[in-house]
Amino acid sequence: MIYSRIAGTGSYLPERVLTNADLEKMVETTDEWIRERTGISERRIAAEGQTTADLAEQAARRAMEAAGVTADDIDLIALGTTTPDLIFPSTACLVQARLGAGGCAAFDVNAACSGFIYALSMADKFIRSGQSKCALVIGAETLTRMIDWTDRGTCVLFGDGAGAVVLKPSEETGILSTHLHADGGHKELLFNPVGVSSGFRDEHNHGVKVVMIGNELFKVAVRALAKVAEEALEANGIAQEELDWLVPHQANLRIISATARHLGLPMEKVIVTVDRHGNTSSGSVPLALDEAVRDGRIQRGQLLLMEAFGGGITWGSALLRY
Ligand code: ACO
Repeated sequence: MIYSRIAGTGSYLPERVLTNADLEKMVETTDEWIRERTGISERRIAAEGQTTADLAEQAARRAMEAAGVTADDIDLIALGTTTPDLIFPSTACLVQARLGAGGCAAFDVNAACSGFIYALSMADKFIRSGQSKCALVIGAETLTRMIDWTDRGTCVLFGDGAGAVVLKPSEETGILSTHLHADGGHKELLFNPVGVSSGFRDEHNHGVKVVMIGNELFKVAVRALAKVAEEALEANGIAQEELDWLVPHQANLRIISATARHLGLPMEKVIVTVDRHGNTSSGSVPLALDEAVRDGRIQRGQLLLMEAFGGGITWGSALLRY
């Protein structure tokens, strides 16, 4: 049996910090409201001209260094993003060229905030089938470029950032299973109303913005994440108490706490970055993973459950032994 194992992790955050106090000056909101309802205190914003590929490249380089691999070793790049630099080529192709990994397969996955889990699941299958021996999986976003900064219901939630992992085959252990889902019937809960085929609008940012029915989405997210967490444990005959860490998508601390409660996990076993990163969409899970690996909380051999939820709607989980 061949598993795909995370050989190294990396992440990158832009330098500029936008605090809740800054947002108080932009829209009618308060630091107290944002912290109580979301758990977010601050988020990072990409500099002018800094793109998703810029963030992805830095995260990828750090993951490759941690894994001890070079561009010549990489034979697959799967990149989750909803905010590509260009409509095409894919951001994965742009990153590939910068890394000097030309020739290998490279593609983007658009599954909104679940993009990294989707990309990880695909790369896992390439490794297990023997088609890839060294896959670079990235989640990278500049989601704040989509934000309507006059809409207090959404502008307080998001941040920019990227995370990456290098996957390699292992005969011992690694990713045990991944579980992906989508329900396009809930499109109206979270979407961007314009695009190439449906057209852009003669309004601010060409009509590009995040439209969200937050309180409805909240309930759907809590239910879906509880189910997909259970699905991963049941598929592997693993009991909740065997889990060492939950590495959740960082959208809202209340959603994260609800999933942890459902699993009977104390918050000490949950990696939380939403307070400092906000919701970085596809970037959030690999960013949280890398932070906890680098600060020594996540150790080799430990059992990790990752999960994510996003527009589409999409959701998924990955259970792995790190
Ligand atoms: N500051 C102050 N008040 C606000 C703000 C704000 N920033 N935003 C909304 N409010 C007000 C609303 O107008 C409403 O006022 P009203 O009662 O007078 O009408 C009140 O606060 C309550 O609004 P709700 O939307 O019911 O508040 P809720 O407790 O649900 O919190 C939130 C809102 C934080 C958005 C929450 O619903 C949430 O996190 N939902 C999930 C969002 C999510 O996960 N999105 C990302 C998915 S990932 C992806 O794919 C990008």
